Amino acid sequence: MVPRLITSMTQSWKARYPPEDSLPYPRSARIGQPLWKNLWIDLGKLNAPCPSDLLRVGGTVLRMTDPSGSVDPLSSFETIASLRRSSLRVDPDRAISDELIDRLIAVSATAPNHRRTFPWRFRIITGEGRAELGEALALDLIETGQPEAKIEKARSKYLRAPVLIAVASIAGEDPTMTAENRDAVAAAIQTLLLGATAADLASYWSTGAAMTSVRLREFCGFDETDTIVGLLYLGWPIGDPPPIDRPAPESLRIGTSTQTP
Ligand SMILES: Cc1cc2nc3c(=O)[nH]c(=O)nc-3n(C[C@H](O)[C@H](O)[C@H](O)COP(=O)(O)O)c2cc1C
Repeated sequence: MVPRLITSMTQSWKARYPPEDSLPYPRSARIGQPLWKNLWIDLGKLNAPCPSDLLRVGGTVLRMTDPSGSVDPLSSFETIASLRRSSLRVDPDRAISDELIDRLIAVSATAPNHRRTFPWRFRIITGEGRAELGEALALDLIETGQPEAKIEKARSKYLRAPVLIAVASIAGEDPTMTAENRDAVAAAIQTLLLGATAADLASYWSTGAAMTSVRLREFCGFDETDTIVGLLYLGWPIGDPPPIDRPAPESLRIGTSTQTP
C-alpha cells in the first residue's frame, strides 16, 4: 500500500513539475548533500521548475529515484518522515480543500489499533469555527482569573492556521484498552502529519491545558469519556522551521542476525 501511495504521489508531483529542457542544472546532477543512499536533498530554496525525477516539498528539492530511474519507496518515505516538522509558519488565509483534508483523515485511519477499536474521532475546525473555539477557550481563562494578555492570545491563536483538527480517543472497556486506544490515536496523528508533509502542508501538533477543557470537548461534541489527544494545525507553509538536531535513537541488536553472510 505504501509503495503504491508514494508512487502515485510522485506521479502527481511529476504532473505539477513537468520535465523542462531549460533547467539551471544538468538533469543527472546531484542536488545538495547525500542524505541516504540514492537520495540527495537540497535544504536551500530552489526557485526553478523540478525535473520529473525530483520532488519538491516546500522549498526543498529531492531526488526521488535511484540511479536506474526507478522510484525507491523507502527513500521517499524516509524523506517525507524527515521533512515533517512542527511549524506554524503558514498562510492563515490560504484554504486547504475539503478533499485534501478528507484524504489525510482517511490515511490517518490506517493506523494500527489493538482489538480493532478504530478509536480515533476527528473534528475539523475552519473559518469562523476557529474564532468560536478561541472564545470558548478564552472563557476557561477568564474563569480562572488569567491575565488579559493570555486571554487575548487564546482568542486569536486558532486563527494562525486555516485548518485545525481536534483528535480524540474513545475510552476502552478497561484501563489497558483505553491506554492502547490512545496509543493508536497517536499513531493515527503521526500518519496524518506525514500525509500532510507529503502534500506539502506544514503541520503542528499541540496539546496543553485545552486538552482537558470541558468547553473544548463540548465544542467538538466529543463524549465525556473521550480523551482529546491533540489539536492539529495545518496550513500551507510560508517559511521553514529552524533546523532540529535529533540524537541517534538508542537501538540494540539482541539475538542472531538475520543477515545472510
Ligand atoms: C503529544 C505531543 C504534544 C505536543 N504538544 C505541543 C504543544 O503543546 N506545543 C508545542 O509547541 N509543540 C507541541 N508538540 C510538538 C513538539 O514540540 C515537537 O514535535 C518537537 O519539538 C520536535 O519538533 P518537530 O515536530 O519539528 O520534529 C507536541 C508533540 C507531541 C508528540
